[in-house]
Amino acid sequence: MKDGASNPKGTPDPKSVKPAYETPFGSVLEGKIEDALESEHLNRLKGKVNLILTSPPYPLVRKKQYGNSNGQEYLDWLSSLAVGLSDLLADDGSIVVEIGNAWEPGSPTMSTLPLEALMAFKRKANLNLC
Ligand SMILES: C[S@@+](CC[C@H](N)C(=O)[O-])C[C@H]1O[C@@H](n2cnc3c(N)ncnc32)[C@H](O)[C@@H]1O
Repeated sequence: MKDGASNPKGTPDPKSVKPAYETPFGSVLEGKIEDALESEHLNRLKGKVNLILTSPPYPLVRKKQYGNSNGQEYLDWLSSLAVGLSDLLADDGSIVVEIGNAWEPGSPTMSTLPLEALMAFKRKANLNLC
């Protein structure tokens, strides 16, 4: 089903991605990144994007209202986005990813998951780290 479309019953497709608002400079899309990457909105930008700046959910021990996974599930989720996002980049384009630090539960030590997630993301799409 195309993005922004309805299902056969006429109700909006929950997987749809729709423009929330537009200006002469561009538009804001509302929806999940997984769906946006499959949408025509982003499909037509393949190879043309100079900067992707993102602050995805962090692999926090404490659950956030917006839902955040942890451990291998987090690594798999974040790295599953790497190829789709990097396909959007122009040859000299960059992805800036902010991943917040997290603590190990019950221990005064830092989780290495943010670093591992960054490396998994980099490896998956054969990116360079700046
Ligand atoms: C770490 S917060 C970003 C906070 C942001 N940097 C700020 O300062 O407000 C992660 C955001 O990602 C959103 N989010 C969660 N899952 C998502 C998904 N699958 N696709 C797109 N956004 C998602 C959450 O709703 C949340 O707003």
